[in-house]
Amino acid sequence: MAIVSEQKSNLLQQFNETRIRTLKLVQTLEKDDFVVQTAPFMSPPKWHLGHVSWLLEVVMSKTISNYEFYSQEFSEYLNSYYHQFGEPHDKDKRGLATRPTVDQVFEYFHMITNKVANILQNDSLDEKTQQLFFMAINHECQHQELLVYDLQHLLADRYRPLTKNSAPEQLKQKSQTIKIDGGLYKMGYPGDQFCYDIEIPEHNVYLNDYKIDAYLITNMQYMKFVDDGGYDNFKYWLSDGWDKIQNEKWNAPMYWEKIDGEWITCDFHGKRRINPNEPVCHVSYYEADAYCKWAGKRLPTEAEWEKAACWDKKNQLKTIFPWGNESPDTVHANLLESYIWSCAEVGAYPNGKSHYGCHQMIGDVWEWTSSEFCGYPGFKTGFSEYNDKWFANQKVLRGGSFGTPSTSIRGSYRNFFRLDERWLFAGFRCAEDI
Ligand SMILES: [Fe+2]
Repeated sequence: MAIVSEQKSNLLQQFNETRIRTLKLVQTLEKDDFVVQTAPFMSPPKWHLGHVSWLLEVVMSKTISNYEFYSQEFSEYLNSYYHQFGEPHDKDKRGLATRPTVDQVFEYFHMITNKVANILQNDSLDEKTQQLFFMAINHECQHQELLVYDLQHLLADRYRPLTKNSAPEQLKQKSQTIKIDGGLYKMGYPGDQFCYDIEIPEHNVYLNDYKIDAYLITNMQYMKFVDDGGYDNFKYWLSDGWDKIQNEKWNAPMYWEKIDGEWITCDFHGKRRINPNEPVCHVSYYEADAYCKWAGKRLPTEAEWEKAACWDKKNQLKTIFPWGNESPDTVHANLLESYIWSCAEVGAYPNGKSHYGCHQMIGDVWEWTSSEFCGYPGFKTGFSEYNDKWFANQKVLRGGSFGTPSTSIRGSYRNFFRLDERWLFAGFRCAEDI
């Protein structure tokens, strides 16, 4: 039986809220900030604003006969990787384009908002059309999060958020592992609201008994690995990972810098001492995997992660979120709308813990799993070139981060990145065989 979550199901309302949230994220930027690309892996804010609007045009083109795109020039610049719509502009050259201008992109953004809002006011949209617009809304949520990663890289503490809240206080916690029984587990999205094609169908997987950390790996724990020469010893590293850290001269997570013998990071709060109690953030898969090897443990598979997050053993059912089926709130998790602009300390969200007692499985940092990103058995594509063309050389991450909008996360959500990427808000927890 499908579990009905309390997620809002009103398409127009979700659309309006999402468009407003995008605009609020960039409201305090200077015009110059919109154009600059500070690294090949990030995109200028102007591009994000235009691209999310262009993707809405893509959906309109699939639902309205003879739809004509607003502008060929815009489509070429704003197409990320959809070859069905022509040759995309080079990702690492998005910051070199002064046209379309920032003003033109804003005009385009508002024009598309009005166009789509008019369509969504129609009560008789068929199921397929509704699903496509839900997908476009969720796509925009994904870009809001990418925009936050990029704003940190571009501006760090020169970014002025409209809202900035303090993180809740950490409650006393001690490192703990939780034993979880193996057997058959039915993984995948169990609800009846929007989810991506890669979260379904639900299917059985067999798990051995395992143990999983109740808490995310902290900066203090990770620092021990660094100080123990973790980045100097090949025996902890996958071959590709060892090559990567040699070539890039990595000796710590991204944004870490040793100044006068002390580890400093630079984020939305400025240059600051590493907080030992926050989860480690900005590590690649290679680094997460190397830490686990150093610690004599391993990363969980995504099925192990999901069972630890969502399985209610007492009632023998799976919930949408670790705490149940109630939509995420600021008492449950540190997500974008918490507007804390960094991780909270581990143990800061006891109300969000899973039935098994795992903390912060939603929010704070995406968690690397050892699972390859591919389709579940019985996978059917929901949108050409969106998810399934990435079914190679990527690992699955679960749980969302402090940059993830709360409407777009759930226990079954599968994010994916290449193994060497680390500008996203990613950390991990360890698992062990029994
Ligand atoms: Fe996109």
